[in-house]
Amino acid sequence: MLTERHEGFAVLTINRPEALNALNPAVLDALDQAWSDLEADEGIRVVVVTGAGDRAFVAGADIAAINRIGSAAEGERFARRGQAIFDRIARSRLVSIAAINGYALGGGLELAMACDLRVAADSAEVGQPEILLGVIPGFGGTQRLPRLAGSGAALWWILTGDRVGANEAYRLGVVDRVVPKAELMTVALDLARRLAERAPIALALAKRAVREGLQGDLATGLDLEAALFGLTAASEDAREGTRAFLDKRPPRFRGV
Ligand code: COA
Repeated sequence: MLTERHEGFAVLTINRPEALNALNPAVLDALDQAWSDLEADEGIRVVVVTGAGDRAFVAGADIAAINRIGSAAEGERFARRGQAIFDRIARSRLVSIAAINGYALGGGLELAMACDLRVAADSAEVGQPEILLGVIPGFGGTQRLPRLAGSGAALWWILTGDRVGANEAYRLGVVDRVVPKAELMTVALDLARRLAERAPIALALAKRAVREGLQGDLATGLDLEAALFGLTAASEDAREGTRAFLDKRPPRFRGV
């Protein structure tokens, strides 16, 4: 795992290019640890997640590790471990951007879907090919893919195991932007920089309102939104942001 810190944001690179960044237990542990370190760093508000090398974001959970699973209970533990790490990313105060630089398959697509935003290289290919190995997605794919693409497209992808190009993934709402491969990191870093300039409390609570709101019904979501709006409106950054607008100058947010 490689962590590179910038002003307000970090770039986290899954670094196992010889296996197309497949997630073995050591890589999963390193991802979990790196995320803990970034969450503990108050200067970091946004994280770009990408894969080392120019072929893959992440080509899935490690197939050799899946091959060694000896019982249903062991398989369930394996799935819960991956789910817990990805769920933590989804719930984190840190806003995450997946920069999909190549294959995002199986656990790779599941990692990208746990992130808040997805930017893909035009040459990237995504999919949930687990069925071709005799298993089903276990790190959130059966739940997050239908929430992004609808149940028809999700079932199509999960039942066939087909790989899908970046533009088709964009059409279905699984990725949010498709850019020429050479521009991917420039676009992702520029997005990270812009988000890191936003009022920190509003940035984290906007994410929470959308993410947590989607878990329940509309009335519960609207209650949550009102409460979180209240917190942002009472912040010093809200005084600064509105004052700066009225004074026709850029705001200087401090995260308070
Ligand atoms: N787990 C473990 N190793 C993997 C892997 C995975 N998910 N995906 C790729 N690798 C390894 C390959 O075994 C190979 O290792 P080797 O050089 O020691 O033989 C290396 O990464 C390069 O992959 P390779 O298959 O030779 O590249 P390719 O260009 O022919 O094909 C893919 C690329 C992505 C199409 C192909 O690697 C693939 O289908 N990977 C598995 C995708 C998958 O099923 N993911 C879900 C897992 S649950």
